[in-house]
Amino acid sequence: MITPVILAGGTGSRLWPKSRAALPKQFLSLTSEHTMLQDTITRLPSESMNPPMLICNEDHRFLAAEQLRTINIKNASIVLEPVGRNTAPAIAVAAMLATQNGDDPLLLVLAADHLISQHQAFAKAIASAQTLALAGKLVTFGIVPTQAHSGYGYIKAGSAVNDIGFEVAEFVEKPNAETAQTYLDGKQHFWNSGMFLFKASVYLQELRKYNPSIYTACERAIATTEADLDFIRINKEAFESCPSDSIDYAVMEKTKSACMVALDAGWSDVGSWSSLWETHEQKDEHGNACIGDIMLEGVTNSYINAEQRLISVIGLDDVVIVETKDAVLVANRHKVQDIKNVVNKLKAQH
Ligand code: GDD
Ligand code: MG
Repeated sequence: MITPVILAGGTGSRLWPKSRAALPKQFLSLTSEHTMLQDTITRLPSESMNPPMLICNEDHRFLAAEQLRTINIKNASIVLEPVGRNTAPAIAVAAMLATQNGDDPLLLVLAADHLISQHQAFAKAIASAQTLALAGKLVTFGIVPTQAHSGYGYIKAGSAVNDIGFEVAEFVEKPNAETAQTYLDGKQHFWNSGMFLFKASVYLQELRKYNPSIYTACERAIATTEADLDFIRINKEAFESCPSDSIDYAVMEKTKSACMVALDAGWSDVGSWSSLWETHEQKDEHGNACIGDIMLEGVTNSYINAEQRLISVIGLDDVVIVETKDAVLVANRHKVQDIKNVVNKLKAQH
């Protein structure tokens, strides 16, 4: 049996002004009538799955519980982090809790903010990864890259281990743009999708080997968990003392036990407004993705999202306009990565 571990503690700051500290993107409906968190759970194959374990910031506990309730998920565990320490500790806490009573389930680690359009292909990749994970491998799911994106991990595929599985010859997290371009040109690298399948014990063993300080802090953090309603609260002081690092840097770049299963299932990381423009399925004949009440004259290849008011745009190309109750973003579609600078300035002001 597989336990899905859903990482829902990110801030999603590149989707400002919709994604806010109080309502990060995984809790928003951006690509369907369900929220990204709900889609993450409902797309899972129903067979051989244990109830999911969700791990998020304590501030979002009622949001998370309510969103699970409305899709009829009754027996999930919701683990609360007092502070974010990135994904390596979050997964460690999940793995330690999952092995507490002597079990050693396979953990399917999922980001709560991805789009996967072909569910059957996803289920097939999970099945293929299962054999490798049971044999003690840390399996990641690799995507054939389409651009030299420097916000992803890159995996060099080694020898084949089954029909769609490979040894990981090299794992490089977020290379610079130049290196990413050489990987793209070389055609031997995949993107890391940020989803993983492994035995809980194998992850913990590798984390302990390469990052003992994270392992020890997490061990202390779960030694005194507190049940609060249906939530599991870990120890604040111990978790605050934990170094912050992602699974990609802390374990995947270092381990010698990694394998990769190729995933061709319409995967996309909904990381920015430009990726939402790219994946929007109903663009008009001028390449515009429009959500809400919008009037356009001579506008091309733009993403426009109106929440409350009518937006009228004339004679612009490649823009992103996102309107909410209290903030409006107008940006060049090729510059939307810089939204994080605006968010940082806003944080500094408050
Ligand atoms: N519980 C918890 N706590 N979840 C977290 C935390 C945390 O402190 N930080 C991030 N997450 C969640 C996010 O909500 C998201 O669902 C997932 O973990 C991944 O975090 P991101 O911050 O979105 O990572 P990334 O996009 O920069 O990079 C990862 O994903 C890429 C693909 O989308 C890496 O795995 C890359 O290698 C990968 O290519
Ligand atoms: Mg991401």
